[in-house]
Amino acid sequence: MPSIAVIPGDGIGKEVTKEGLKILNYMNDQHNLNLKFEEFDIGADRYLKTGELVSDATLKKLETFDAIYLGAVGDPRVPAGVLEHGILLKLRFHFDQYVNLRPIKLLNDKFSPLKNKGVKDINFTVIRENTEGLYSGIGGFLKKGTKDEVAMQEMISTRKGVERIIRYAFEYAKKSQGKLTLCDKSNVLTYSHNLWLRVFEELKSEYSEVETNHYYVDAITMKMVRNPEIFDVIVTCNMFGDIITDLGAEIQGGMGLAASGNINPETVSMFEPVHGSAPDIAGKGLANPIAAILAAAMMLEYFGKEKLSKEIEEAIKEAIDKNLVTKDMGGLLTTSEMGDEIVKIIKRG
Ligand code: NAD
Ligand code: IPM
Ligand code: MN
Repeated sequence: MPSIAVIPGDGIGKEVTKEGLKILNYMNDQHNLNLKFEEFDIGADRYLKTGELVSDATLKKLETFDAIYLGAVGDPRVPAGVLEHGILLKLRFHFDQYVNLRPIKLLNDKFSPLKNKGVKDINFTVIRENTEGLYSGIGGFLKKGTKDEVAMQEMISTRKGVERIIRYAFEYAKKSQGKLTLCDKSNVLTYSHNLWLRVFEELKSEYSEVETNHYYVDAITMKMVRNPEIFDVIVTCNMFGDIITDLGAEIQGGMGLAASGNINPETVSMFEPVHGSAPDIAGKGLANPIAAILAAAMMLEYFGKEKLSKEIEEAIKEAIDKNLVTKDMGGLLTTSEMGDEIVKIIKRG
């Protein structure tokens, strides 16, 4: 049965995965899921001690697992980009996890930051391309450190990469009977995003049953705030997906609530919260573990345990309804009390 590699990582990543595992362990015992966990010491501490990020041997070992459950990486003691590229992006790229699935679902009207918009309005999914675009790492410096310095960072869009993510999004929209919106900047990125636009148009004729729509990325941020109800599924490139899902996290109630799945059904998929290591609140018991717990629920759904996944979401909803939440949501619970509360609610049934 499913084996899960756990990478708590840095900062609040360590605190929130602990709570996710609390819920997974409970489900495991209760329903004889036979889940097997193995923790991996990957992150800033290890890097600072040994200089190692993720070795080839570790990658080989991770290949033998069914999924990865990750907290977050990033540490103020390490220059920006080292851990992000060396660990997180390395894993996404190594396992070719080309889909970054990011649901944006408000669980209770009272946490909507948008006037007159509630749970019936804020409920959609962003499908973010996860292996190319501005994240390819292709680029370099010329005359670095001089007044003539040139810095380049390439935006890569391949036919294969663009087609597989847009096709995945069409399939997702078809299955969920939702409207599919393309978010791009094809009015300016007349090469890179022209390819996105052409592929989208092409696939539209293959999926004539799926209703479609199209917004430029600047306009979509306005629509996400003003009219979130018009969206069911949004497909977009890597960088825009990163940006609009932090906005999405806020309209669903905050960074502490947004979960994601890095998916390639043919390799090893990885589940994690959308938020980072939050050094400003790390080690204080202030982190909201709900995003990490929802990421664990997404992982169970991925393993075909939809009912258990739903049960976790319902328990979270109940805790939220009763204001049994962490400080970021106006509550009094610590990170670990929040996890305990969710287990308690699931137990009660
Ligand atoms: P962040 O998501 O860590 O934090 C942004 C803000 O949201 C902070 O004020 C933080 O306190 C708050 N916040 C985030 N998660 C929270 C939670 N669960 N409960 C309560 N409050 C929460 O983003 P950042 O500050 O831009 O980045 C910090 C570090 O994390 C950086 O090194 C960055 O590169 C890294 N990062 C990693 C990931 C990842 O591993 N997936 C994602 C984003 C950022
Ligand atoms: C995210 C993060 C990452 C990204 C960083 C840490 C590399 O912001 O998962 O949203 O940009 O994808
Ligand atoms: Mn991000």
